[in-house]
Amino acid sequence: MNKLPLLLLIVLISFSCKENSEKKETANNKELNVYTHRHYDSDKALFELFEKQSGIKVNVINSKADELIQKMVLEGEQSPADVLITVDAGRLHMAKAKGLLQPVANKETIDSLVAPNLIDKDYHWVALTKRARVLVYAKDRVDPESLSTYEDLILPKWNDKLLFRSSSNIYNQSLMASIVANDGEDAAKKWAQGMVKNQARKPKGNDRDQVKAVAAGEGDIAIVNTYYIGKMLNSNDQSELEAVDKVAVYFPNQNDRGTHINVSGIGVAKHSPNAEAANQFIDFLLSEEAQSVFALSNYEYPVNTNVENSDVLKAWGDFKEDDLHLNLLGELNKKAVILFDEAGWK
Ligand code: FE2
Repeated sequence: MNKLPLLLLIVLISFSCKENSEKKETANNKELNVYTHRHYDSDKALFELFEKQSGIKVNVINSKADELIQKMVLEGEQSPADVLITVDAGRLHMAKAKGLLQPVANKETIDSLVAPNLIDKDYHWVALTKRARVLVYAKDRVDPESLSTYEDLILPKWNDKLLFRSSSNIYNQSLMASIVANDGEDAAKKWAQGMVKNQARKPKGNDRDQVKAVAAGEGDIAIVNTYYIGKMLNSNDQSELEAVDKVAVYFPNQNDRGTHINVSGIGVAKHSPNAEAANQFIDFLLSEEAQSVFALSNYEYPVNTNVENSDVLKAWGDFKEDDLHLNLLGELNKKAVILFDEAGWK
């Protein structure tokens, strides 16, 4: 062996020894590395509460789910990630397909608290919170009696009236996946084409921007996740308060499958150095105490069936949820993206 490869070998060995010892240092179940796409104050409060109750230090690595998944792939067995939290089931499905997750430990606890359609069929992830993807309409221009389903939004009466964000947005992709699952591919493509035909403007901005555009009269109906309405109703920003005051919430598809639900969810990393702590953390996040924090401070629907909705959500009344299994939303995500593209939904 000549000198150069030998030197390289020594460098590589010492590098991997260092990596191993670094990984071991975190493998004490007194620390937890949380890879998360969520960016809410509720989570910060919950992580602090978990630290206090368990004595386990929480290290947060915050980024978009795709970037976190890529990071986990590159890190491989040396990944310090203990849990992955995303704002949709599709990305958890992807992480599972890439072999990045492992089953949760306390399946019975999860089964007893959470509806079966919100749990991965192999227990590689579970939903933490639910959001309903509702219609928001201009109170002064739309009679709620004229609304009914997502499908009916493509009727000619809504020409130039619809506001929605880009098809690259995961909430829209999940909605589209649910349309594919319920109506079939051909009908879903026609639906997306009809939506584009009825759009008031090219898709732009986030969910809150769609509400503001309805309030400003750019269109009459927007598609929005419920928790954004909750946040706007409790905003410190006067313009958000004024905008949300001009709109009302409508739960579509109440006479058939129910309103589309998307979720935030969590899974234990395949190579978690602190799997015990990771499972403890998941049990904590599904507890009544933690679920109430998600409900009260982030206006999300709790997945723990023993926990009540916040007053903001209660005011909108009970509604029928589409109980499509989330595994299906993940499986149909790619199809949804292709159909959006074919339909010209930007
Ligand atoms: Fe969001």
